[in-house]
Amino acid sequence: MEYYETLILAIPAFVANMMPVITAKMRIAEKLNSPIDGGRTIKNKRILGNNKTWRGLVSAVMGACVVSVIQYLWYSITASAQSDLWIYSSIARAIFFGSITGVLVIAGDAMGSVIKRQLNIQSGRPFIPLDQTDYMILFLAGTNFIVSWSGNQVVFLLVFALLANTLSNITAYALGIKNTYW
Ligand code: CTP
Ligand code: MG
Repeated sequence: MEYYETLILAIPAFVANMMPVITAKMRIAEKLNSPIDGGRTIKNKRILGNNKTWRGLVSAVMGACVVSVIQYLWYSITASAQSDLWIYSSIARAIFFGSITGVLVIAGDAMGSVIKRQLNIQSGRPFIPLDQTDYMILFLAGTNFIVSWSGNQVVFLLVFALLANTLSNITAYALGIKNTYW
C-alpha cells in the first residue's frame, strides 16, 4: 500500500482526535460536557480527569463517521472506485469504520490520561510523546483486523502523528488559538 493511501485511511483518526478540542472551544452541546470518569478515582487519583468528556467521545465518533462517509462517496464517484480498501466497499462499512475509529481514538487518548493521572501529571499538562501518539496507537491496534497494517505503516503513522500534532499545537499557540504550546 502507498503512503498516501495510509494517510487517507488515518484521516478519520486525525479528525476524531481534533473534534473534542473544536467542540470544547466552540462550546457546542454543553450538556455533554461532563467527565467520563464521573469523578471516580484509582489510588486516590482521578481515573481520567475533567478534560475527558462525553462531548469529546460523541464528537469524535461523529467526526470520524462524517469523514469516512465522505471518503466512501469520493471513492465511489471517482475512478478510484476499484480501490481494494475494505472500508470503501459500502456505506455501512464506512460508517462502521468511522464509529470504531472514533471510539478507539478516544479510548487511546483516555489511556494516556490514565497513565498521566497515576504519574501525578495534572489534566492539560504535557507528557511528550504520549500525548501526541496515544490515540494513534489504539487506532492502529483496533483497526488491524480490517487494515492489516504493515510495520512500515505503523512507524510512518506514529512518526507522522508525533510531528503533525507537535507542529499544529505550536502553530495554534503562535496564532493565539491555544494557550499552551503542547
Ligand atoms: N476533550 C474532551 N473530551 C475528550 C478528550 C478531549 O472534552 N474525551 C477536550 C477537553 O476540553 C480537553 C481538550 O479536548 O481539554 C484537549 O484534549 P487533550 O489534549 O487530549 O486533553 P488534556 O486537556 O491534555 O488532558 P489530559 O491531561 O487528560 O490529557
Ligand atoms: Mg493534552
